[in-house]
Amino acid sequence: MFETLPDAKPDGIIALMQAFADDPRMGKIDLGVGVYRDEAGRTLVMQAVKDAERHIVATQESKSYLSLAGDHRFLDAMGRLLLGGAVPEARLAAVGTPGGTAAVRQICALVQLVRPEATIWVSAETWPNHVPLISAVGLAHRPYRYLDAASGTLDRAGMMDDLAQVAAGDIVLLHGCCHNPTGVELASQDWAEIAALLDARGAVPFVDMAYQGFGEGLDADAGGLRHLAARLPEVLVAASCSKNFGLYRERVGLAMAVIPEEHRARVAGTLAGLNRRVFAFPPDHGGRVVSTILSDQKLRALWQAELDEMRERVHANRRTLAEALRAEAGTDRFDFIVTQAGMFSLLPLTPGQITALRAEHGIYMLGDGRVNMAGLNAQSVPVVAQAMAQVIDEG
Ligand code: LMR
Repeated sequence: MFETLPDAKPDGIIALMQAFADDPRMGKIDLGVGVYRDEAGRTLVMQAVKDAERHIVATQESKSYLSLAGDHRFLDAMGRLLLGGAVPEARLAAVGTPGGTAAVRQICALVQLVRPEATIWVSAETWPNHVPLISAVGLAHRPYRYLDAASGTLDRAGMMDDLAQVAAGDIVLLHGCCHNPTGVELASQDWAEIAALLDARGAVPFVDMAYQGFGEGLDADAGGLRHLAARLPEVLVAASCSKNFGLYRERVGLAMAVIPEEHRARVAGTLAGLNRRVFAFPPDHGGRVVSTILSDQKLRALWQAELDEMRERVHANRRTLAEALRAEAGTDRFDFIVTQAGMFSLLPLTPGQITALRAEHGIYMLGDGRVNMAGLNAQSVPVVAQAMAQVIDEG
């Protein structure tokens, strides 16, 4: 049966994780997969999560099935965290999903069901799994320009020119904050212009929110999404709690549509049906942890303080790396790192330099130069800066 099955194409991020794990060298540095690490390199369970879990274990009486959408307390709490009351709850239809990845997949499946001819526009640089998820449901995709590689900032004119070509009914995928992989944020003026343009063209935004809280803060990071939701009749959302609650392997996410109230029941029912046909019920434990934290004042304050600390540490890593690169490489061409946000930046290195960093220095980053800033610490920053200066010197 499998004689003609071609070899599976490895996922770049997951393959890199494995290569790092298999590397026996002491002192190897993992700047690959987007996972937060503390100064000691650990990805610890957050204290607020531990406390919530203790409470759940002590009080939970049943693990019987809930609804196909999952726990409504999780969905309601996440609706408020994401949208901050920007639209009435009656305009929201949401279902829980196993992580943000499945949320993207379920939104794509929803689009495919109602508008199979739609093209999904994706930023030219994007999370490597976006396009495979879109293609998996048979939808077409097209890139729009995003990064101005020379300056490490937004190619605003290129982006708006490309988006001016979206057709009525097309979908435009936007990163809610902390753009993966570029770290380049949209300013509120950009969100306003995009909203006006999509409205004029009759296209629908699809916001992937995987890093809320890692950019400027929980509310600031959701500002663009909230603007779109308040301004436009329809917005699609995929959200993940992997990073901001540190719940990676628990798989906690949600797929949400912001829609006119009269469509709510049908869209919610359709999303629930889509869940039924893939995994039936979304996992419960992680979502229950999230809703427990968000509904308890003390736990919520603890969680926000922990998240603030993580964000500050990543920002500090950005500053120290840019300074070290100035000193080591004698250039300010990496200063853009400080102006960017979230876990990632795309370093302008050649494939040969990226391979040399891995082979000769044990420094792991993605093949396109994406670096996880959360993987750095005081010890590794000078090592990375020196190694980068060396491989750049060598050409
Ligand atoms: C990443 O971009 O590294 C993370 O979102 C992990 C993943 O699933 O790819």
